Amino acid sequence: MLHLLLPAVLAVQAMAVMELRVPEQPVVALYDQDATLNCSFSHPNVFNLSDLSIFWQLTDTKRNVHTYSEGRDLLVDQAEGFANRTSLFATQLKLGNASLLLRKVVVADEGSYTCFVRVQDYGRAALFLQVAAPYTKPALTLEPESNLRPGDKVALTCVAYGGYPAGVVVWQDGSGRNLTENVTLSLVANEEGLFTITSVLTVTLEPNSTYSCQLINPLLGEEGYASVTITGQNIAFPPVALWVTVGLAVCLLVLLVALAAVCRRKIKESCEEARREAEEAKELNEDESETAMTPLKT
Ligand SMILES: *[C@@H]1O[C@H](CO)[C@@H](O)[C@H](O)[C@H]1NC(C)=O
Ligand SMILES: *[C@@H]1O[C@H](CO)[C@@H](O)[C@H](O)[C@H]1NC(C)=O
Ligand SMILES: *[C@@H]1O[C@H](CO)[C@@H](O)[C@H](O)[C@H]1NC(C)=O
Ligand SMILES: *[C@@H]1O[C@H](CO)[C@@H](O)[C@H](O)[C@H]1NC(C)=O
Ligand SMILES: *[C@@H]1O[C@H](CO)[C@@H](O)[C@H](O)[C@H]1NC(C)=O
Ligand SMILES: *[C@@H]1O[C@H](CO)[C@@H](O)[C@H](O)[C@H]1NC(C)=O
Ligand SMILES: *[C@@H]1O[C@H](CO)[C@@H](O)[C@H](O)[C@H]1NC(C)=O
Repeated sequence: MLHLLLPAVLAVQAMAVMELRVPEQPVVALYDQDATLNCSFSHPNVFNLSDLSIFWQLTDTKRNVHTYSEGRDLLVDQAEGFANRTSLFATQLKLGNASLLLRKVVVADEGSYTCFVRVQDYGRAALFLQVAAPYTKPALTLEPESNLRPGDKVALTCVAYGGYPAGVVVWQDGSGRNLTENVTLSLVANEEGLFTITSVLTVTLEPNSTYSCQLINPLLGEEGYASVTITGQNIAFPPVALWVTVGLAVCLLVLLVALAAVCRRKIKESCEEARREAEEAKELNEDESETAMTPLKT
């Protein structure tokens, strides 16, 4: 209830509108680092801290981020996720500095924050917090990665991890020509909201060519670069494959010769056997004719 009531109470009690100063440009906070959300107010020369109220809330959902009232922090109604991560600068309060320190920034912190302050007068102002996380250095891989020949279709994949917000990948060839047309891009967020960016460029290999991918983070600028040069040598028949092929061919030849020799011997043997069988058959026939003759003899 407090997060709904307090601004209303402040508004009713306030006699006049007080000027607050917050950054006009979005505040860029690095992931996992601390951020200061500046908010300063014009104030009477001397005032009692127990008369000061400061109320930070999420502009869209009106959820309570940090409350200070009657000289102390009041965090019972703090939105989930901000526990132990917020504080004001105690010594700065009487100087008109109501800035909020937000520790260990996460992607979900991104958004608009409203700062309410009341001393005698009352004022409010909103600022935007933008989260940035650097990507890992991009890694460039080829598919297939060997036995490449000019004219082959090759998929070049450029991958980088753990960044925010969504990055941009620009592909170039050796002469700086933009190849980004024929690209498929995928962005996958992990539990923390950080992206893995994968860009795949399909090219038809030309001899002696360079391909590079450049990763750009819209908030942090150019972040990394990877390139591969496919020289004539890469494309030529790789020596290892050549020797393996020659070796296999020699083995096959030897095998064939051996097989041929074995076959010839087998054929010769079976020929001789056939001849022998034929002769035996003839002899048998002669025997039979002899026995056939016998009864006639007797
Ligand atoms: C906060 O205010 C201080 C003092 O005016 C300034 O130096 C600093 O750059 C500001 N920080 C941000 C994030 O605006
Ligand atoms: C408020 O105080 C903190 C801590 O000294 C400082 O970092 C910040 O810049 C101050 N903000 C303004 C607007 O003066
Ligand atoms: C500030 O306010 C408290 C409570 O209202 C009071 O006890 C204290 O004397 C005041 N201090 C000054 C300097 O006005
Ligand atoms: C905040 O800090 C308190 C005391 O150190 C601890 O008991 C509590 O679990 C912490 N809460 C979170 C969400 O980290
Ligand atoms: C993109 O692909 C098309 C068709 O495959 C091709 O005509 C064109 O030259 C390619 N563009 C670049 C920059 O390689
Ligand atoms: C390269 O081409 C793509 C698609 O045509 C375009 O979006 C991108 O802005 C170009 N980049 C550069 C550096 O020219
Ligand atoms: C490859 O290109 C480089 C630079 O353009 C050139 O110096 C080299 O002679 C080329 N090599 C072949 C085999 O074409």
